[in-house]
Amino acid sequence: MSAAVPPASVPRHVAIIMDGNGRWARQRKLPRLKGHERGAESVRSAIRSCRDAGIQYLTLYAFSVENWSRPKAEINGLMRLLRTFLRDRAQELHDDHVRLRVTGRMQDLPAAVQKALNRVMADTAAYERGTLILALSYGGRAELVDATRRIAAEVKAGTLAPDAIDEQTIADHLYLPDVPDPDLLIRTSGEMRLSNFLLWQLSYSELYVTDVLWPDFRDDEFQRALAAYAGRHRRYGGLA
Ligand code: IPE
Ligand code: IPE
Ligand code: MG
Repeated sequence: MSAAVPPASVPRHVAIIMDGNGRWARQRKLPRLKGHERGAESVRSAIRSCRDAGIQYLTLYAFSVENWSRPKAEINGLMRLLRTFLRDRAQELHDDHVRLRVTGRMQDLPAAVQKALNRVMADTAAYERGTLILALSYGGRAELVDATRRIAAEVKAGTLAPDAIDEQTIADHLYLPDVPDPDLLIRTSGEMRLSNFLLWQLSYSELYVTDVLWPDFRDDEFQRALAAYAGRHRRYGGLA
């Protein structure tokens, strides 16, 4: 861990909107998929940075529900890349005792991708040193819709009273209810928006936006984000 970031100021959960792969490729007159390929190397780098910093949860926005509107060739390329990543990186997750989880409408993914994910998730389910969460076919609004449907079903079944619904009820019905909210949200490539990521969970997260494109976001940039986080004063609406 970098000496500049004292342990008490290390976030427990970092979430990243990995943006800018296409721009990285365009700047080099390369096909967009080359940017995604290089971006996969940054994913590996981010996992290592989290391991070395003692960050417990890393959530990566890898594919949004809205990303299904991209050209089929790009979607196929991303799905292929995901399978390659799972094949090539599973051993590192084992070595580092990192558990893989998925958030999102996993049922929308191609069967082969679901199979590869399920295999790695099952193989790493017992690990507790760190958790890597891939947001796949994920949308913050979709997650709230899915939670609402399940809450409504409980109300209809008579097991939940409408008056008993509170914030905890909603949190308990999200995709990964046991995962703490992100402390730090990083977005690369300079866009100042959430793009439908973790709408509920990011309510009090610290935001860090950098112009660096995701394929160029490596450990030095990660350390910069951690240093910025360490200098933040979280107030949660109070005066403390
Ligand atoms: C992020 O890079 C990766 C995904 C959304 C899958 P983009 O593909 O959005 O890259 P830009 O924003 O076009 O540069
Ligand atoms: C957000 O990036 C989604 C992911 C990083 C997976 P996008 O490139 O899809 O978001 P917009 O289009 O800039 O809002
Ligand atoms: Mg983008």
